[in-house]
Amino acid sequence: MNYRHSYHAGNHADVLKHAVLLRMLQLMQRKEAPLCYLDSHAGTALYDLAGEQAGRTGEFRDGIARLWSRTDLPELLAGYRAAVQRHNPDGQLRFYPGSPQLVADQLREQDRMILSELHPEDAAELRGHFAGDPQVAVHQRDGYQLGKAFLPVPEKRALWLLDPPFEQGDDLQRALQAMQAGIQRMRQTVIALWYPIKNQRELRAFYQQVAAAGLPKVLCVELAVRPVDTTLGLNGSGLMLVNPPWPLWEELEPALPWLAGELAQSGTGDWRLEWLAGGP
Ligand SMILES: C[S@@+](CC[C@H](N)C(=O)[O-])C[C@H]1O[C@@H](n2cnc3c(N)ncnc32)[C@H](O)[C@@H]1O
Repeated sequence: MNYRHSYHAGNHADVLKHAVLLRMLQLMQRKEAPLCYLDSHAGTALYDLAGEQAGRTGEFRDGIARLWSRTDLPELLAGYRAAVQRHNPDGQLRFYPGSPQLVADQLREQDRMILSELHPEDAAELRGHFAGDPQVAVHQRDGYQLGKAFLPVPEKRALWLLDPPFEQGDDLQRALQAMQAGIQRMRQTVIALWYPIKNQRELRAFYQQVAAAGLPKVLCVELAVRPVDTTLGLNGSGLMLVNPPWPLWEELEPALPWLAGELAQSGTGDWRLEWLAGGP
């Protein structure tokens, strides 16, 4: 396990993932009924952008930093930036909250969350960070098994972020199997799978597999910051959203073109919003 999210925190992929995750949570919380958040590849809670690891790549400068002082953010992105600002009360961008922290900040007293993180150091840090919080459970276990272990949840409402590091060649397949197993156990589970846009051929096959996987509703959301046919590295990223709450897709319509324009690193940037299964 070589991947450490501290090198990448706050980059363009985090912006897309966290803005959408946060908004899905808020939309689900319009109902008073309790919900359970599952984070199968949790990373740690808070990242120091002035630290050595974030400084070495500087990826956040082409991510959250580009949004930091803007006065014209679409609503969905304004909510996300406010969630990051909460950890930087003096207005200087220094700390970046990871997915567990972003969600913990929004939990109501009736909600809870289950985190899994396999890296021993990150898992220990997470445990220490949330120690004594009765709403948070931290497990050092394989995140792909989280659905099998905890679904269905007694709350009958769950939001599950699947955010693998894609270090191994089979992450897309393992993620798809995990989503299918989760939906079989609790059909109304809301799932967000994050994936990198690097290999177009592999992705085209994946879209077809997702469409044929028997998942109820799947919305594909993508943001490219470079032409997708180059081999430079992370050209963009996507989210497969199973059972996304209304009206997320309507809110993404203005937010995605704005993001593509502002986060583009070469060319104009690009985006995609398409139902692969079911529909609104
Ligand atoms: C992309 S990072 C997570 C970022 C985090 N979800 C966020 O949005 O702030 C992926 C994490 O998964 C962890 N990991 C790798 N393989 C795992 C596995 N099989 N189960 C659980 N965690 C794993 C890595 O140590 C890493 O911290």
